[in-house]
Amino acid sequence: MSNQPQAPTERAEADTVACSVSDGIAWVKFNRPEKRNAMNPKLNRQMLRVIEELEFRSDVGVLVLSGEGAAWSAGMDLKEYFRENEARGLDAIRQAQRECYGLWRRLRWYQKPTIAMVNGWCFGGGYTPLFGCDLAFAAEEAQFGLSEVNWGIIPGGGATKIARELLSFRRAMYHALMGENIDGRTAAEWGLVNEAVPLAQLQARVEQVARALLAKNPVALKATKDAIRRVGEMTYDNAEDYLVRAQEAANFHDNEGRKEGMKQFIDDKTYKPGLAAYDKSKRTEGKR
Ligand code: COA
Repeated sequence: MSNQPQAPTERAEADTVACSVSDGIAWVKFNRPEKRNAMNPKLNRQMLRVIEELEFRSDVGVLVLSGEGAAWSAGMDLKEYFRENEARGLDAIRQAQRECYGLWRRLRWYQKPTIAMVNGWCFGGGYTPLFGCDLAFAAEEAQFGLSEVNWGIIPGGGATKIARELLSFRRAMYHALMGENIDGRTAAEWGLVNEAVPLAQLQARVEQVARALLAKNPVALKATKDAIRRVGEMTYDNAEDYLVRAQEAANFHDNEGRKEGMKQFIDDKTYKPGLAAYDKSKRTEGKR
């Protein structure tokens, strides 16, 4: 045996994402804590596999995305995503882009509601899965930054667009030009996430939100989340028209639940939609 220190073994592709399903919630984690969950091509490919596998499972109603260890994600892997692909040439760069852009697009239009549970560092390319998730909750202790300027590139891969979507013009400009970090509390104040709570309470708060979503009509949730994303780029009249079509399409998709919702309010008087969701358990098995 040599006395040389052993080089750390490379994490297998299948091990770059951790996942467990419990009571309707899929808990998915970036799983490269030793690299602060930086997204390398292996992780991007595995993440796509994992979320695709979960997307149409009947035992999954909500997906939560978090990170193992101290980071949510330290963004794109500078070595494996940028440097090594640049050395391989344009085809390798385009392939790596296609893999991760495809993954994030899939997340933005996911069939189930998604929640980013930001437990720690969130940098640059990490803003894309952050925005890909419908809701985002952060630890107050988490740190967010568009650090690209600190090493000499623009916030690409959607990060600049996301800053403009979620932040005011002045905040987006300051955030991207200065490369300074903000904590979870400031991220909530700026609108980058919905809410920040102490790290020790983060999972409980996210689970509470996930459970509330699980109690609601899944057809309505999917149509609503898509509509919120779509109407932002439409004129008022186009949005109005789109929403009529979206409602009619949702009604068509086996969505008998809305009739049950109306019945429980108008006829049975068992709940008030202004205060809670109707009781889904009263629906016939298999109906939504
Ligand atoms: N790409 C590649 N490797 C990364 C990485 C990234 N984005 N972020 C962290 N790592 C690696 C480090 O190189 C280090 O690897 P090593 O153990 O082989 O040396 C390991 O992860 C641990 O990182 P380290 O910097 O020692 O951890 P830290 O807790 O002291 O600092 C950060 C954490 C997140 C502040 C720091 O790692 C960092 O600045 N990362 C880059 C963030 C960034 O700019 N991302 C934008 C990319 S678009």
